[in-house]
This record gives sequence, C-alpha cells and structure tokens, in this order.
Amino acid sequence: MKEKLLQIRESATEMIEASKTLQELEDLRIKFLGKKGELTEILKGMGKLSKEERPEMGKVSNEVRDHIEDVLKSKKEVLEADALNEKLRSEVLDVTMPAKPVSVGHKHPLMKVFDEMIDIFIGMGYKVAEGPEVDTVYNVFDALNSPEDHPSRSTSDTFYFNDDVCLRTHTSSVQIRTMKTRKPPIKVISPGRCFRFDELDATHSPMFHQMEGLVIDENVTMADLKGALDQFVKRFFGQNIKTKFRPHHFPFTEPSAEVDVSCFKCGGVGCKVCGGTGWIEILGCGMVHPNVLEECGIDSEKYSGFAFGMGVDRITMLKYEIEDIRYLFENDMRLIEQF
Ligand code: PHE
Repeated sequence: MKEKLLQIRESATEMIEASKTLQELEDLRIKFLGKKGELTEILKGMGKLSKEERPEMGKVSNEVRDHIEDVLKSKKEVLEADALNEKLRSEVLDVTMPAKPVSVGHKHPLMKVFDEMIDIFIGMGYKVAEGPEVDTVYNVFDALNSPEDHPSRSTSDTFYFNDDVCLRTHTSSVQIRTMKTRKPPIKVISPGRCFRFDELDATHSPMFHQMEGLVIDENVTMADLKGALDQFVKRFFGQNIKTKFRPHHFPFTEPSAEVDVSCFKCGGVGCKVCGGTGWIEILGCGMVHPNVLEECGIDSEKYSGFAFGMGVDRITMLKYEIEDIRYLFENDMRLIEQF
C-alpha cells in the first residue's frame, strides 16, 4: 500500500508539473484528491490493515495528500500569472494612435458678441440680471411709463397671451424687475431675447436680442451715461471710435438719446457698412424717468440713473458683415463656422 501511495505521489507530481492550463490542473486535482480520486480510493482500503500498520499508513497518506496539494497550489500560481501576462499583452493600448476626431460644434457669432459685451461690462463693474421672455404687460409697458395709446403696445406690434401677459418687446422689463427687488446702488446689464410682431426680412426678425444696461445711484448724471457708453464703444469697436448722442424719445427715459458710432469699417468717410454716412446707429439710452423710479419705490429726489439698450443682432451683423439677419437663425454650420 505504501508503494502505491508513493507511486501516486510521483505520477501526480509529474502530471501536475506538465499541465498547461488551469482547467487541466483542476482535472488533475479531481483525479487525485477528489471524492472518487485515486488517493481516496486507496484510503478506503485502510480498514483492511492491521492495527500496527494503520498509523504508519495514515502518516504516509497525509504526507502524500499535503504534497500533492502543495504542488497543485504552486503550479496554479504559475499558470495564473501566465494567464494575466497573456491578457495584458493581448490588450495592450497604443497610446500613440491618433484619437478619433470629435465634433464639438462652434460658438454662434451672436453668442460671441454677447460674451464680448458681457466681459466688457463686467470689467466696468456691472452684474448680469436676467428676466423671463414671457412677462407681464405691467413690466413691459405700464411700469415703464408707456402711455396707454403708445403704438408699441398695439397687437400688431406685440405678441399677447392675454390682456396682462405678453412676450417682452425689449429687455427694459428687467429694469423694473431689478429696481423692485434691489436697493440702489444698482449697476446691471441684462442680455436676452425679445419679440416683436415683425415680418421676417433681411433686417427684421420677430425674435431678436438686446442688451440692456441700468445704473441707479445718488448723483448719477448724463455725463456718467456718456462716459460709460463711450468706454464701452471704445473697448468693443476700437479706441479710435467716436460716439454721437442724438436727442430721441423713449417713454421711460428723460432726456433720451440715440447713439451713433463712427463707422469702424471706413473710419467715417462713408462705405457700404455705414450706408455712406460715416455713422452707425447702435443703441437707445437716457436718464431713467422719475415716474419709473417712483413706480419701483425708489425716491427720485434722492436717486437718479441711466439706462441703455442695444440690438445685439444688428451689432453682430455689422461687426461680421452678415447681410441678412435670417442667416443668424438658420443654424447652417457653413455660415456659423466662419466666425
Ligand atoms: N428699450 C428700448 C428699445 O427697445 C431701448 C432703450 C433701453 C432705450 C433703455 C432707453 C433706455 O428700443
């Protein structure tokens, strides 16, 4: 019996050493140590041995079992390491391979202009205030001192939801929202989308964009307004650009003005961009009307302020010489990617 055990020890060791896969190894474990394995079979014959022989055979068979287990274990480690190495080798990444190109889109020229404007005003100490595109008739017209019969209120100019709610026709409604919720000093800009009942053509769109500005504090004067806009114009269009303030009328500002800038294309001699005049109109502005301040609960004896509003689509078209406003909203990448 002892001989048989030693024979098993020897052949098991040999076969285990020769095995090449983990599956083969597992088969060998079952073959030798499993419930019906060779070693087990032999141990079943222990009962037939004499009392003297039994302890000796027990010892030998334990030693054989321990030995086979050891060999199995170390062979398993070797095979596992081999398998891992093989896996790493076959899955190796070539980090020098060029990446697949990802299309990330392109910033819309309108948004580029917005960002540039916002940057300039933030640099001048303004904060961004936002308001909804659907607003009350009160915020869009009434609180802005707009007379009942003002043409801009008519249903042929403004999109109404009902008597009290409309699509804002300008960003000036954000002035009202800001003054009603914040105390002076106030210094904000509000970029946003506006809507008017306009027929779509090369220069008009029922949906367009404005950038409003509002400054309220003690002792704010027209000189502050002119200084602020002059600074903005120089930073946005160029240091050599001149501004011209023409008297105008807005219900919510008094006095009011429209601002022209000397043509940044021809320098003022006259060209296609400025229509031969040397000047380009870019915005409306004025000193906030006392009625508007009072309506918003701001003491018009103590505080004064100015406001301005500019058409961002128009400025974008001028800046990039885009001839038709519709190009801005068709989202044709062939156009957008040019800027
Ligand atoms: N809201 C005016 C417009 O849409 C522009 C403006 C804003 C004028 C603020 C004066 C002050 O034309």
